[in-house]
Amino acid sequence: MKTLILYASNHGTTAKICRYIAEKIENSTIDIVNIKSNKPLNLNLYDRIIIGASIHAGSVQRSISNFLKTNQDLLLTKPLALFLCGMNKPEYEQQFEKVFPEILRKHAISNKVVGGEFLLEEMNMIEKAIIKKITGIKETISEIDFTKVDELIEEIKK
Ligand SMILES: Cc1cc2nc3c(=O)[nH]c(=O)nc-3n(C[C@H](O)[C@H](O)[C@H](O)COP(=O)(O)O)c2cc1C
Repeated sequence: MKTLILYASNHGTTAKICRYIAEKIENSTIDIVNIKSNKPLNLNLYDRIIIGASIHAGSVQRSISNFLKTNQDLLLTKPLALFLCGMNKPEYEQQFEKVFPEILRKHAISNKVVGGEFLLEEMNMIEKAIIKKITGIKETISEIDFTKVDELIEEIKK
């Protein structure tokens, strides 16, 4: 059993969640791949695929939307789990639906919005200024919803 965990991550939170998932999945060879690494990727090699990404200013990383478009047909042939990081709770469902096309959401064994983090030390000056102004936060906060992450792990393991 071979599992691909493919992700995009601006400040490292989605990457961290991917590593957490990889540690908890048993009986599988796992490749964790940053979509930005431009590693040649043969999706046919994998028995199941997990895709994670994050929302910034209302949008997901373009690399992820392009990947989903290009590989949709193949993704529909594999057990699939999709997750999204974000910090704007009231918009979670809407954002998830915007990022992942309906056909993939319906096919996926697991669809989760898993919260996220504001890592001030990882932000550039503009990001920091925007986030501080919008949210009023003064220090880094972590609101990863590990209950949702654990649910995804259980659902993909079945
Ligand atoms: C500049 C900036 C803009 C963001 N915009 C949104 C947003 O529009 N909606 C949302 O739910 N979360 C937003 N977030 C929160 C991120 O989704 C959150 O920080 C997430 O954990 C980032 O994951 P990553 O480090 O893997 O990219 C934003 C964060 C930053 C720094």
